Formats: sequence, structure tokens, C-alpha cells
Amino acid sequence: MISKPKTMEGSSPRVYIKTFGCQMNKLDTELSIGSLAKRGYSFAEDENDADVILLNTCSVRDKAEHKVYSQLGSLRYQKERNPELILGVLGCMAQNEGEKIFKRMPHVNLVCGTRMFSKLPELLEKITESNKQILAIDEDGEVNFDRLVTQRQNQYSAFVSIMRGCDNYCSYCIVPYVRGREFSRSVTDIVDEVKGLVDDGCKEITLLGQNVNSYGKGLTGKVTLATLLRELDPIEGLERIHFLTSHPKDMTREILEAVGELPGVCEYLHMPAQSGSDKILKKMRRQYTSAHYRELVEMAKSIVPGIKLAGDFIVGFPGETEEDFEETVKLLNDVRCQNSFIFKYSPRTGTSATELIDDVIEETKKSRNNILLELQKRISTEENKKMHGKSVEVLVEGESKTNAGRLIGRTRQNQIVVFNQPEGINQAGTSSSLSGKLVNIEIVDSTDLTLFGDLRDFSFNEMAH
Ligand code: 5AD
Ligand code: SF4
Repeated sequence: MISKPKTMEGSSPRVYIKTFGCQMNKLDTELSIGSLAKRGYSFAEDENDADVILLNTCSVRDKAEHKVYSQLGSLRYQKERNPELILGVLGCMAQNEGEKIFKRMPHVNLVCGTRMFSKLPELLEKITESNKQILAIDEDGEVNFDRLVTQRQNQYSAFVSIMRGCDNYCSYCIVPYVRGREFSRSVTDIVDEVKGLVDDGCKEITLLGQNVNSYGKGLTGKVTLATLLRELDPIEGLERIHFLTSHPKDMTREILEAVGELPGVCEYLHMPAQSGSDKILKKMRRQYTSAHYRELVEMAKSIVPGIKLAGDFIVGFPGETEEDFEETVKLLNDVRCQNSFIFKYSPRTGTSATELIDDVIEETKKSRNNILLELQKRISTEENKKMHGKSVEVLVEGESKTNAGRLIGRTRQNQIVVFNQPEGINQAGTSSSLSGKLVNIEIVDSTDLTLFGDLRDFSFNEMAH
């Protein structure tokens, strides 16, 4: 029998949430932490100290679900040692697998889908009182965007959800089934949330949605991502605005012009191409051609000087021949993404691509994956070398964990920069006072993933911002 909620006995239950998958999931975790904190829950640093362990899950590829099942398998022993432990599965896999999770993992107490996060405190209390398993995957559940601005992972940087769900139904993708129909938040709500975050010390925001380029659909008046960016840019104290993910079919000149004109909006686009072959793009139901993707990249580079691009690619989609794959290689070679997320096609039950035969053998998928990874690595290395000798604006995050004595931050294009401080600053022990500040760093070295540099002078940007 599970004991009474500890909130009622004076000491609050400690929750540990482990997050899998995309930024959207990281944000959902933050929102859940906020709503649990409001109800008196506290949080454990380590899962071994927790009274409640929640796994916030991803379903986008089969491997992601396997990982969660294997974690749940290991947690069985923890539960045997501590029968009062509450174990919950949240998010996309909870929505996708539902009841099946209880069948495979009978020691799980809660399965809570993507639209039930706001009910989390009540659900946990119900489990504690009744000791019964709860399945909460209501498809009509309301999406709740409420947040405690003070409850976030990074003091200076925050994710802000501007829309939920997706109506695109790309043939390989499970997201529309687990996250539901597309829904845009009102401009006022977003602006209010961002102002609250900035008042709490936040300098940088990342606007999140499955397809932010179609933001505004369903709202009254002419509301677009570009108009939203124009509302957010003037907010005093907000230094940087990022947005992701951009679907090529909905990218417009208007959005790119806003990125080019607005000083706070960063020169970075996460715009998945998925494939360079028109035949495969059609089978994927992406609604653009490889030529259109190239035109968009050209337009972006001409309107926004210095813009960097991140892409997603899927290799080994059904019917992908060597020639189709070569077109993907050529596309990446031509557009030269700064970084890419490269995936082997994984059939997802319920999606329309499962009607096609998964005919590219695993070995070929693997080798195509490696070829693209190698190519991306070469491009990133070459592009980073071009930065040597240049000065870049860096938002300082703090001390580097892997490079003792050095600091770490990010450029406006989301590149990691590890840098040395001038002697005086270092000795005075003021490194932590640079956290959250914008500084200019001269780049002297690099790898494919990291820029290395020196902070020569640190008085300037303090005054500029
Ligand atoms: N198989 C492989 N990759 C996928 N993605 C989405 N669904 C699948 C799938 N079934 C990739 C796409 C998308 C990213 C988030 O995950 O590239 O942009
Ligand atoms: Fe999935 Fe396509 Fe929607 Fe992206 S746009 S979430 S790939 S269905």
C-alpha cells in the first residue's frame, strides 16, 4: 500500500523527471516541474533519492521507444526495493503506446499523454490515494501553456511554445498522431510570457513549434511568425530570439525579411530538407522540391547575411535508390548546413509510409547514414575554420565542464564557443559574473562542433547592452 502524499504530512514528495527527445519535450518537462512545484512537490537531483520517477518520452523513432522500455525494465528492481516509488511514463510514447505500457511493464503506475501534463499533480495524488494504475491519454485534453517563469533549467535562456501539434502528416512521421492538431497560441499570451521571462533575467528565447512557419493559422487577423517576431523584438532586455522548426513549404520572404531586419532575431534557421530527391520528397509528402529548398536557402543567404542553416535528413526511406541518395549528398554539399541531424528511416505503426515496403536494408541505411555524417563533419570543420581570426558575439553560459578554467557560451548561430579569459578577470575570480553577459570573442581555433577563442576586452558589450 502506498502511503499518503507526503505533502499532506509536511514533507513534500521528491520528483525526478528524465527527458528523452526534442526541445518540445524539454519544455514540457519544465512546465510539469512548474505545475508540480506549485502543488508543493520538490525535486530530486538523483533518481535514487526520488519518491516519484517520471520518464518524459519520445516516439519519433523505434529506438527511442526501445530505450524507454529498457529503462522501465531496470526500474523494476528499484520499485521492488521501494514499493512506494511511483513510476510514470509521460508524453509521446505514453500517447502512442497507452495501455500496452501497463501490459509490458506492470510496475508502472501512470501513463500520461501529451495533452494531460497540466493534470499531473492531481494524477499523482490519485495514485497515492488509491494505489491504482492510471491511464490518462485523453485526445481532447486541453493543452496548457501555463508556466512558472522562475522554474527553468537555464537562467538566461528559455524555450517558449508558440504552437502545438502538427497538421502536415509527412508520411513517415508519428508526431501528428501523438501531439494532435496544430494550434497556435495568441500573440498576447506569448508576449506576456516572454516579458515575464525577461523580468526574471532571461536574455534569450527560443520559440518552439513543430512547424513555426505556419504560426498564426486559426488566429484572428493577419498573424504570422513575422508579425510575432516584430512584436517580440522590441522587448527591453531581450537580446536574442531563435525559432524552430521551420518547414520549407511554409517559409516566406516576409519571415526572412523579419530575420534580416530585426536586431534581436538570430541568423539561424533549422529547416529540415529530409531528402534531396524529388521522388522521395513526394513519397514523404513534404510538399516541396529540392529546387525549391535550394531557392529558399539562396533567398535566406541573400536577405540575411551570415545566416547558418541546420537540417534534418532521413536516409533509407522506402524506395531510396543509390541515385536518390546521391541527390541528398549533393543537396547537403550545395547548401552547406552548419550542422545536421541525420536519421535512418524507422517505420512507425499508423503512419502512411508503413504501406510502402521498407526495402532499404539496414546495412545500406547505416552506410548512407555514415556517409552523410562524414560529409556534414567535413563541411562543419571547413566552415568553422573560416571563422578563425574573426570576432563573434557570445552569450556566456558559465564555466566549461570539460575545459577546466575556461568559459563556455554560444554565438547567435547557436555554435558552442569555449574561451579563455584575460588574466585579470581570471585572477579576480569574476568568471561567474560574466554568465549571462554578451561578450566578443576572437576565434583562434576550432573543431567541427566547437569554436575556441579568447576574450580580449570585456567592458564594451556590457555598455552596449
Ligand atoms: N524515421 C526516421 N526519422 C524520422 N524523423 C521523423 N520521423 C522519422 C522516422 N519515422 C526525423 C525527421 C524529423 C526529425 C525530428 O526526426 O528528420 O525532422
Ligand atoms: Fe512530423 Fe512533418 Fe509535422 Fe515535422 S512537419 S512534425 S516531420 S508531420
